[in-house]
Amino acid sequence: MKFLLEGGYPLEGEISVQGSKNSVLPILAATLLIDGVSVIHNCPLISDVSAAKSILRDYGCLVKSEKNTVIVDASSLKEGDVTDSLLRQMRSSILFLGPVLSRLGKARFCFPGGCEIGLRPIDLHLNAIKKLGSKVVEENGSVICSADKRMSGEKIHLTFPSVGATESVMLCAVLAKGTTVLSNAAREPEIVDLASFLNKAGAKIRGAGESTLIIEGVDKLHSVEHTVISDRIAGATYLFCAVSSGGKIKVNNLDVSFLQSVFPLLEECGCTLKYEKNSVFLSAPERINAASTVRTMPYPGFPTDLQSPAAAMLSTADGTSVIVENIFENRFKYIGQLNRMGANIRVEGRTAIIQGVRRLRSAEVDACDLRGGFALIIAALNASGITQINNISHIDRGYERAEDVLSSLGAKIKRIT
Ligand code: UD1
Repeated sequence: MKFLLEGGYPLEGEISVQGSKNSVLPILAATLLIDGVSVIHNCPLISDVSAAKSILRDYGCLVKSEKNTVIVDASSLKEGDVTDSLLRQMRSSILFLGPVLSRLGKARFCFPGGCEIGLRPIDLHLNAIKKLGSKVVEENGSVICSADKRMSGEKIHLTFPSVGATESVMLCAVLAKGTTVLSNAAREPEIVDLASFLNKAGAKIRGAGESTLIIEGVDKLHSVEHTVISDRIAGATYLFCAVSSGGKIKVNNLDVSFLQSVFPLLEECGCTLKYEKNSVFLSAPERINAASTVRTMPYPGFPTDLQSPAAAMLSTADGTSVIVENIFENRFKYIGQLNRMGANIRVEGRTAIIQGVRRLRSAEVDACDLRGGFALIIAALNASGITQINNISHIDRGYERAEDVLSSLGAKIKRIT
């Protein structure tokens, strides 16, 4: 599948941002902990959610979907035979390990897939699971975890505030015996959303959004209804699209408090922003200014998921911008593709030096990961001519109907299957 996108049309209009991919995936994994029904609203229609639903079905859950609501009944959870290819399809499948282990005392897992953006090891997840009292054995590319009895609460310190490892600890500790204290936990809004879902189901988690999480284990979780938070990354990505096209758009259904590290970049570039509690209006200048150094950091710092969209946007700025990637060691693969479109970006280790050009030009390019793939759309909106973006299944993993959202703003984009 590919997109054909004709650049040069300023985006204009209003959109409503989708539910958060990075919230819904751990929440879908967490439904396995519940001996009952979970009703989850505002789930984005993306392929990672479809993969998560297939995994849940393979574990014996009844899963129904109605538009953006997913209903999961995990009362008949069984030791599933989830195929390795499904587990490898997305890296977040590691999050299913803790819930299955908590409820069945045993879980098998194969090393995860997901975006090609570096090594992405799972040592922090596995060390925490061991610390909570489970045995972990690695065999032929699989990890087998088993616990003779209920896992037990412990003091755990993460050497890095990994989002996934924080979620794994939460998912193991809610049904463990005793209290778990997790220090150097990730503080992302998606962690807060997972805690809010679990607490509504009867869990006892305190401190979500801070560096120390205190989780008192409970015997059982009950049925729950929850609405997933808005996708701050998708919201910002569409703002960057508007900037690259020289347009003006309003993004609704977006919690603007989640993007406090991103708005200063847009303002520095010369955009006008007007904020309301759940929406933001952006008007871009004809050509943006270059930015002083952007450094990706754990939340509340600048998100690594916006590093490639930001680079695409800055590639036509007036002057030189610098981006330092501090989270993943190999997240610059898309830059070769941007340079094919006339960008002038040099990578030195973890730093990208972006010499702004006046305008990009169309080319045939390949999406090689989710966010880097969308960066090519941002570039194509600026480019003269029709850009062909191949391998868009990467983009479908995280963006709901990107072509419809962009078309509603006046973009000339077509999906070719
Ligand atoms: C999540 C997000 C992803 C985002 C990332 C960082 C989801 C579904 N994905 O990914 O979009 O880019 O947070 O904000 O929520 N690490 C280890 N060992 C581990 C785990 C992680 O060394 O066991 C390292 C990783 O290689 C990486 C860093 O920690 O360098 C951050 O990874 P982490 O925060 O865990 O990212 P994910 O949870 O995979």
